[in-house]
Amino acid sequence: MSPFTLDLFADTEPEPPPKREQIGEQACVLRGFALPWLDSLLTALEEVLAVAPFRQMVTPGGFTMSVALSSCGALGWTTDRSGYKYTRNDPQTGQPWPKMPDVFFELAKAAAREAGFTDFVPDSCLINRYVPGAKMSLHQDKDEGSYAAPIVSVSLGLPATFLFGGFERSDKSQRVPLLHGDIVVWGGVDRLRYHGVLPIKDGHHPRLGEQRINFTFRKAG
Ligand code: SIN
Ligand code: FE2
Repeated sequence: MSPFTLDLFADTEPEPPPKREQIGEQACVLRGFALPWLDSLLTALEEVLAVAPFRQMVTPGGFTMSVALSSCGALGWTTDRSGYKYTRNDPQTGQPWPKMPDVFFELAKAAAREAGFTDFVPDSCLINRYVPGAKMSLHQDKDEGSYAAPIVSVSLGLPATFLFGGFERSDKSQRVPLLHGDIVVWGGVDRLRYHGVLPIKDGHHPRLGEQRINFTFRKAG
């Protein structure tokens, strides 16, 4: 092809969707960022779940969460009637939470860097499992020792609508569609924004079946 033909082609070619979408001053979605890591992520996930299986937890208010949870890393996030807290041991086994797999750690670091947060060192990965109908109400992530580090949130499997709100629960939320492989990162001035997930719609994902898996990486301690 002559350069002339190439130029013409470039003019008519549809724009590829942007890989990084800002949803706040220091918050963005990295489209498809986790996809190249998928096989190793899923193998590592199975190993974690063999030691710390998904379970449904109860909130301090007495409601059973529709999302099933597990954790890996030095600190795991838990909730029961006495409150929300990070623990060093899985309350179900009394054993330390499984080590954070290297591939989890490296993906979280790479995503944070891509979003402008260098030197993210997560010590906690909450693993959320949503079946159709499961949702997460608007909340802030504020059980961490410091808010200096960002939150890195990986979506796998069924699509979701992520709600990204303001600093008050009643503030209007943006609706952000999230697909398999997308990663949301929020930190800095956006670190304490309310967020949640609308009920997952029925569906079947070719790789993960009837579920959405979310990894939420944090520096908790
Ligand atoms: C969370 O806020 O812990 C989970 C968010 C998500 O599932 O995308
Ligand atoms: Fe959260």
